Amino acid sequence: MNLNLDNKRVLITGASRGIGLSIAEGFLMENARVVLLARTHAALLEAAERLTGKYGQDRVLIFSADCADASNWPDVLGRINADWGGLDIAIANVGNGRSLTDALPDSEHFNKVWRTNFMTAEGTARATLPLLINSGGCLLFISSIAGIEAIGAPTDYSVAKTAIVSLSKQLARKLAPRVRVNCIAPGNVYFSGGSWDAKIKEDPKRVDALINATVPMGRFGTPEEIADAVVFLCSDRASFITGACLVVDGGQTVSLF
Ligand SMILES: NC(=O)c1ccc[n+]([C@@H]2O[C@H](COP(=O)([O-])OP(=O)(O)OC[C@H]3O[C@@H](n4cnc5c(N)ncnc54)[C@H](OP(=O)(O)O)[C@@H]3O)[C@@H](O)[C@H]2O)c1
Repeated sequence: MNLNLDNKRVLITGASRGIGLSIAEGFLMENARVVLLARTHAALLEAAERLTGKYGQDRVLIFSADCADASNWPDVLGRINADWGGLDIAIANVGNGRSLTDALPDSEHFNKVWRTNFMTAEGTARATLPLLINSGGCLLFISSIAGIEAIGAPTDYSVAKTAIVSLSKQLARKLAPRVRVNCIAPGNVYFSGGSWDAKIKEDPKRVDALINATVPMGRFGTPEEIADAVVFLCSDRASFITGACLVVDGGQTVSLF
């Protein structure tokens, strides 16, 4: 299948590790060009070194910036415009499920989790949409199955991830046919150094029992499996798909729609 992603210009937020980094590599494997964005410069440099060694120096740009802070975006977009003359695809991937187990976490904590999980996505959409409208491009959000079912994840994280699904659908309907907007809801994704790695280190038996009891496929997903779905949805082969929320969870969710 030719995905027709040659030389496409792709921005991925939260791309210094985990799912975001795999998404970047997924696009590079299709001969696209990628901009990696995260806050920690050293981690970005390390990721970029590995990717440029494999895919070439001129295909990877990095930016250290907090994507929830609107004042950072003019610099990022100015550089993308100067170097590559525009943007075709933006992936709003930043997020973090670590929070409190309280039914309703205190407002300070709630706001922090909201900022990390929703404002980063909304900020990315707001900043990149003018370029995507110009190129007739694609916007994709990474939500979570915690945003589509009450699976027992932290309340603040779940609420923020539900809001992302709603934002994605609203934008898809209002921006069609100029920009396609979709969403992916991953289930449990394991990678070394990730949140599940930490939980396994704390209590491997509990995690094993949880995965076996709740995931019909009986295992974690990999970042590459999420990346493959992202790359497809942002390619020309998905040209009639907009407003979708694709669940990639090994069968964990139980609702019909
Ligand atoms: N892992 C899972 O099992 C799972 C399951 C469902 C959904 N998801 C979702 O998938 C996405 C990626 O998850 P992950 O597990 O790969 O996350 P992760 O390991 O925590 O990585 C998050 C990335 O985002 C960056 N980041 C965090 N806050 C940022 C900010 N304000 N501005 C810019 N960059 C920021 C981090 O680097 P810096 O800290 O250096 O900025 C890092 O590159 C998230 O939206 C998560 O909610 C994950």
